[in-house]
Amino acid sequence: MEEEEKRKKRVLPINQYEGPILDAIANNTVVVIIGDTGSGKTTQLAQILYRAGYTSNGIVAVTQPRRVAAVSVARRVAYEMGVQLGDEVGYSIRFEDRTSSKTCIKYLTDGCLLRECLFDYKFQQYSVIILDEAHERSLNTDILLGLLKRVAAERKPELKVIVTSATLDGQKFSEYFFNCPVVTVPGKLYPVQLLYSVDRPVNYLDSSVQTALDIHVREPPGDILLFMTGQEEILKAISMLEERVKALEEGSCLDVEILPLYASLPPESQARVFLAPPSNCRRIIVATNLAETSLTVDGVVYVIDPGHVKQRQYDPATGIDSLTVVPISRVQAMQRAGRAGRTRAGKCYRLYPLSTYEHELLATTVPEIQRSSLTGAVLHLKSLDLPNLDILQFDFIDQPSMESLEDALRQLFVIDAIHSDGTITTLGKHMAELPLEPALARALLAAQELGCLSQALTVAGMLSCESIFFQAPRRGQGKKREREEGLLPSGGGYGDHIQYLQIYEAWQHHNFDVEWCKSHGLQGRSMRFAKDVRHQLAVIIMKKNPGGFEESATNKSKEKVSSARSLRKALCQGFANRLAQRMPRHNGYHIVSHRSQLVQIHPSASTLKVDEEGLYPEWVLYHELVASPRPYLRHVCVVEASWVAPALSKLQNVNISSLSGQGARRASSNMDAVQAGGVVINIEKILSSG
Ligand code: CDP
Ligand code: MG
Repeated sequence: MEEEEKRKKRVLPINQYEGPILDAIANNTVVVIIGDTGSGKTTQLAQILYRAGYTSNGIVAVTQPRRVAAVSVARRVAYEMGVQLGDEVGYSIRFEDRTSSKTCIKYLTDGCLLRECLFDYKFQQYSVIILDEAHERSLNTDILLGLLKRVAAERKPELKVIVTSATLDGQKFSEYFFNCPVVTVPGKLYPVQLLYSVDRPVNYLDSSVQTALDIHVREPPGDILLFMTGQEEILKAISMLEERVKALEEGSCLDVEILPLYASLPPESQARVFLAPPSNCRRIIVATNLAETSLTVDGVVYVIDPGHVKQRQYDPATGIDSLTVVPISRVQAMQRAGRAGRTRAGKCYRLYPLSTYEHELLATTVPEIQRSSLTGAVLHLKSLDLPNLDILQFDFIDQPSMESLEDALRQLFVIDAIHSDGTITTLGKHMAELPLEPALARALLAAQELGCLSQALTVAGMLSCESIFFQAPRRGQGKKREREEGLLPSGGGYGDHIQYLQIYEAWQHHNFDVEWCKSHGLQGRSMRFAKDVRHQLAVIIMKKNPGGFEESATNKSKEKVSSARSLRKALCQGFANRLAQRMPRHNGYHIVSHRSQLVQIHPSASTLKVDEEGLYPEWVLYHELVASPRPYLRHVCVVEASWVAPALSKLQNVNISSLSGQGARRASSNMDAVQAGGVVINIEKILSSG
């Protein structure tokens, strides 16, 4: 307990700069604070402001790019302040709000704050907004930067904006905010010795595990932090480590505790890495880049950096939204190395040569806004009640490419979110109000019209979970096995969405029993999450449209079949930009929106029926087009040619460059117009109209 008290009272570097920080905030509307990871920006700043009285006329908000960080730090701060989580200190993440009328420090994801401004674009309930982890440059953070730049000027001096970053890019933020002051909190970093590999390893997983083992056997005590790219890899590394540790001679070295750390890890397991480690024991923490800056794990002395990260990358030219493993940037490499020098001098093992670091890695990570689909962001901006909003003139800290803006507009037009003149439609407004990607939101609204909202809500809930199936040794195997044994419904050959619906209904039929999930190879936690999401979406829709739908648990199989059919039709409207057509003689598919793109159905999707010739259905919609390692469609659903037609006619006639002769193009502008379905859409107009 004493140990805990000490931990609570510990003074972090940022606490020593309370004076200068408070002065800067008192005298300026926007302040940038730079401090190394672990200096206390996330956990201490809000408390400093609280003590200085900033919560007396509003809430202090702290945004986080990741859900898990928002929850974890809120819990930590509540603990440090000795209050119940959800009272004075709370958090709000998508589908989960743990705040009350007492809350005066609120941790929330940047996406959540962005949604709040749909209903209050001036952020009236807040006295201070801290855009934390701004160095991550998440898409939502970038949009918030732009919105807050406008609002801070309007609400001066009531609203203060603080931008924090763990890297030395403070100048860039400062220039963006009219040269606002930058307070730098020097970190207490011990020297970190950098060790490079001679070559790039053939198998970095294997090399990482071997390096961890070598450190464990040869080096003095101190925890090891190993960076992996995702859950699957982490679990594999851990089982390899466990095996090899077991093979070590007993008593030849320290005990080991091997812990995973990744975003979708159950909260209890996550909390373990923040507990004081057992004595005489070395911890090996195998983490995603969550441990790079977002969450600080104390006690690390050795860092193993294979140099990779899983990154979202959207290519407007192919429509592929991929999560691919890419080399990290030099900034990330430095951050990772820094994790080794927090308690004493440490070592960082880079599993790549110095020449790779110097010549192949990018200096900084490309901001998400330049590698994401902007469909949701553009819809969001258009639905805000902002006076004089002109997306073309919108003051982004880094401009997205014109290609991706155009792509977003085309997509929004195809799913009826914007008119041909670029103004938002009523449907578009409703879509923006749902905390879902535009395609799924559109599908829900279509389902409402087609009388299958209840089913669509279920599917939206199921698609919002990480994975409902237990991780199988090999991807897809577990799912296949359960189905082969006939334990789970198969979706009647219509694909994953229908299977998800049937699985949920079967679970519902068993009174949402957790044991039932277990015995059917399903993750109880994911299923409960799906149920929760479903409920919350239903509440939002019902609020908008009281009596809008009835929860009818239909048991008649005929009705079920017809509602499943309507559901597919509704999904087809929402996913009009994500349709694929099978090629005549084999099971390869063409992406409709990008004809040249050839794809396969992901091997895990074995829910599709095949005909006598072994061919899949001609038309499917897909939820994701992934590129690992080849372009694959994930979560597919069979649709009919007649439903596809309207989308096709809209899509096929969209021609960005055909309009130069229409006089719509200004000499000074690189804007083109789009011709869609015989309607001339002026891109410039679409972009700039509210
Ligand atoms: O945001 P920044 O990286 O500057 O630091 P922080 O996240 O506020 O972390 C400050 C200290 O609080 C670190 O030593 C963390 O290990 C500790 N902390 C913790 O013990 N539990 C958490 N859930 C979060 C932070
Ligand atoms: Mg932080």
